[in-house]
Amino acid sequence: MKISVSYLSSIFDKKSTIRLIDNSNADMIHVDLMDGMFVPKRNFYIEETLEDLKDTKKPLDIHLMVYEPEKYIKDLSTLKPEYITFHLESKTDIKETIKLIKSYGIKVGISIKPNTDISYLEPYYNDIDLILVMSVEPGAGGQRFIFDMLEKVEDLNDLKYNKGYKFMISVDGGLNEYSAIKCRDSGANIIVSGSYVCRHENYNERINLLRK
Ligand code: DX5
Ligand code: ZN
Repeated sequence: MKISVSYLSSIFDKKSTIRLIDNSNADMIHVDLMDGMFVPKRNFYIEETLEDLKDTKKPLDIHLMVYEPEKYIKDLSTLKPEYITFHLESKTDIKETIKLIKSYGIKVGISIKPNTDISYLEPYYNDIDLILVMSVEPGAGGQRFIFDMLEKVEDLNDLKYNKGYKFMISVDGGLNEYSAIKCRDSGANIIVSGSYVCRHENYNERINLLRK
């Protein structure tokens, strides 16, 4: 199981946090971008984001919590991220946005909020590289893991094995050493962690606990 670390909530400033994750044994840097409409808080301006991440070495796992993902994809493509993930609940044309992300040679993810059923993803199972299951309401770090979301992970995992779909299953929000084990046992390929790692001094120690 891979560990993608989010710098959304940290005891250090943003630049130091990004550097610490980049030098840690995390597998990816999870980039949470919020437009202040899809979720209440806005936390980015695209030029600043490009500047913040331009010298990072680890693969970037971008999570767009925005209504209009198509607006940002061209700029973000310059960072050569591993994944760009947008929400099924956004206001975009889903098929077109999948095509747009792929046109830059970037892997595509779709994320679903806790109240969205996985069946709405069905038309896209064959076209996407990643499904990001939100295990908290998107919008803030430090929330409690919603254990009911493990059922979605199990169902998606069954679908992969029964129908041969190739997407990775990622779980985002409220991860700690206990919920991480549950995610792994349910079939998650990636887990996203923010505060559990970044609200501590020793990132590698926390990442190793998540990996166990
Ligand atoms: C929630 C974000 C998550 C989350 C991770 O809106 O997408 O990436 O903040 O942070 P923790 O691990 O603190 O829940
Ligand atoms: Zn996220």
